[in-house]
This record gives sequence, C-alpha cells and structure tokens, in this order.
Amino acid sequence: MDDMANIQKVARQALKTFKTANGLPVKENLDVLKSMMGAITAQDVNLSPPNKDRRSSYPGAAPVTHVNIIECPYFSMAVFIVSRGRKLPLHDHPGMHGFCKVLYGSIQVDMYRRMDSEQHEKTNGTLSHSNELHLGEFIYEGKHTFDSDQGVCMVSPTHGNLHTIRAVNGPAAFLDILGPPYSSEKGRDCLYYKECRSQDEQSDVRYLQEVPCPQDFFCDSQTYRGPVVKFEELMQRNEEE
Ligand SMILES: [Fe+2]
Repeated sequence: MDDMANIQKVARQALKTFKTANGLPVKENLDVLKSMMGAITAQDVNLSPPNKDRRSSYPGAAPVTHVNIIECPYFSMAVFIVSRGRKLPLHDHPGMHGFCKVLYGSIQVDMYRRMDSEQHEKTNGTLSHSNELHLGEFIYEGKHTFDSDQGVCMVSPTHGNLHTIRAVNGPAAFLDILGPPYSSEKGRDCLYYKECRSQDEQSDVRYLQEVPCPQDFFCDSQTYRGPVVKFEELMQRNEEE
C-alpha cells in the first residue's frame, strides 16, 4: 500500500467504494474517499497551473480540457481544466455519485436536485402547466465556491446531481471522480439543461428544460502525465486486502 502514489491510493479507494455487490456505495467508504481526495494536490497528478490562460493566446481553443486518468466499469477518474470565466454547462449524473477536488484556481458550482414526489404535490398547480411545457421542477441548492484548499465538492443521486461548474478568477483545474461512470447502455447518459424561468425570489423551485449540448461547450483532451493508474493493479490490490 505504501509504495502506491497518492492518486493510486485514491483510485483504489474509489474501486472499493463503487465495486459493491448491489452496486450501491456505503456512506463510510464515500466519506473515506472524500477525505482522501481532499488531500490530493496538482503535484499528485503532475499538473502545473498555466502561466496564462491558453484562450488568451488561442481564442478558438476549447473552453474545457479533459485529462483521462482511468475509466473502468466501476468509476471514472479525470482532470478537467476550465478556462477563465468558462464553464461546464448545466448537466446531470443520473444515479451517480461525483466528487470534485480543485487542483488550482477556484470553481463555482450551482447545484440543483430533482424534486421529490412529496414536494411535487405541494406545487401541483404549477406541475401540470410545467409538464405541458416539457419542463421539470427542481430544487436549487445554491452556489458553492471551492478552491484548492477548501474541501471537496460531493454530489449524489439525490443532492447536487445537476450542476454548472464555472472557473472564477482565472483558469481552474479539478480532479473528478464519478461512480458509477457514465454509460449509455446502462441508462446513464449525460443530459444538458437550461433554466427556463425563475420563480419568485423567495422560492428555491426552478424549472429546467432538457436541451442539446450547448454549442459553445466542447472539450479537447490532454495526455495524463501523473502516476499510472491501472485497473488490473487496482483489482489485484483490492483482492489482497
Ligand atoms: Fe458534473
């Protein structure tokens, strides 16, 4: 265990957390994963903050860069680099858990969750109307800011599952773990949304509509240069434990 790099230890904990008999993670393992992720730095994945935002040199460059570390049947782990002022548009993670740990810069996360059936009943007057417009009712869970020494952003199937992630005050990079990973075959596609109209100021109910992926959002990719994370090795370590 000690000969493993920090990022490999985190991946091993992710495997332990999401490779379960019934496919559901237990809270204790999620908490350990969150705390281990909280200690990960840019150095652990061999990433350096850029001297200047690359979109200022190349205005046509992708607003977001994806650096894949590992994708396996149980979880995915990657780094996202977001240019100054740009964002990952409002999207969801159906039935998934997600963790983001900022490596440099700051991110602002606007979170929403699906309204449960009890809350739907309370707003039944607007519900039928919203269905006619193919809108869904969601609860806005606020704007949360994270930077490299300020904890881990954690979302679950019932909390923060829809969100926008924006780089503020310069470019930002974050380590991202999703468990289980996106999978079209298993009904876990990433869908995009827009907020259609806001309720009165007092209400946290929001109306979101599914939309195609926004045209100004696209990713390019960069090669991962940190310690190699191999699925077979993680499986072996997991069995040895
Ligand atoms: Fe996300």
